[in-house]
Amino acid sequence: NQLAQQHGKLWLGTAADIPGTNESTDAGYMEIVTNEKIFGQLTPANMMKFQYTEPEQNVFNYSGGDYILDLAERDHQRVRCHNLVWVDELSPFVTNTNWTAAQLTAIMKTHILNVVTHWSDRCYSWDVVNEALNGDGTFSSSVWYDTIGPEYFYQAYEFATEAVRRTGKDIKLYYNDYGLENPGTKTTAAYNLVKELQKRKSRIDGVGLESHFEVGATPSLADQNAAKKGFLALGINVAVTELDVRFTAEPYYTPAGLAQQAQDYYTSVQSCMTVWDFDDKYSWVPSTFPGQGAADIYNATLQRKPAYYAIAEAI
Ligand code: XIL
Repeated sequence: NQLAQQHGKLWLGTAADIPGTNESTDAGYMEIVTNEKIFGQLTPANMMKFQYTEPEQNVFNYSGGDYILDLAERDHQRVRCHNLVWVDELSPFVTNTNWTAAQLTAIMKTHILNVVTHWSDRCYSWDVVNEALNGDGTFSSSVWYDTIGPEYFYQAYEFATEAVRRTGKDIKLYYNDYGLENPGTKTTAAYNLVKELQKRKSRIDGVGLESHFEVGATPSLADQNAAKKGFLALGINVAVTELDVRFTAEPYYTPAGLAQQAQDYYTSVQSCMTVWDFDDKYSWVPSTFPGQGAADIYNATLQRKPAYYAIAEAI
């Protein structure tokens, strides 16, 4: 992050799944998360998601998010807040009842208005809707889409726009997804969502390109630049929001594999960039993609990997 600042790039950030996890009590991990020379921005990997912030209907819990915000503010780091409307990590009250469209829309509205106004501009930005699209560009199945239909997407931004207006602050609103890192059907569908939001006069400041890549199969720089240009042409920003580059099979730590991974990170460096956690020990990858791993820039004993230095070089 210090290099990024020196070179006029905006920041390097990381996701962190704290508090209440093993990493929260790992002094070595916490030392890196809180080091603003390494990371100038944090994203809570889980603690601002629906099931944590509104565990029961109209009962809000801000403690996990507060912990990260307090830490980040102490260390002069920005926080990209993540996320308001997603298919996963919902509270049982949302998924266990057959709500009507009107009822579920009201639930979404209450959630967005409360959470966004509560943290106000302590959040630099919000990922309003997360991962709404299938690879073929259609809306993916979720309680939101299945109950409300496509309107849920636009309503989420309408409510978030209203919430930001109520704060009177400048809080950026993003759409965040994977598979938007190169040109293609899904990326085109995302351009169209942005255009529709703009037509409806909702606030949409940017798109987050998650960038969960595989070693040796990371989109080329030309493709990444082309996808990005498409978003920039709509007058919005792009940010790399969840970068990691996983090995799809062992062995994870051969010199050639690590060099390829470093190259993949190098290709993906942008001016606003968040890695999705930074070490192979606490990464989300092995539990989500069994048999895959070592996706991060530090190894499992918190030693810097070639990918760490590749980022520094790219900056
Ligand atoms: C992941 C977290 O890292 C895990 O701890 C959790 O179990 C599941 O969610 N895309 C996203 C993130 O937008 O919210 C996901 O985070 C990773 C994929």
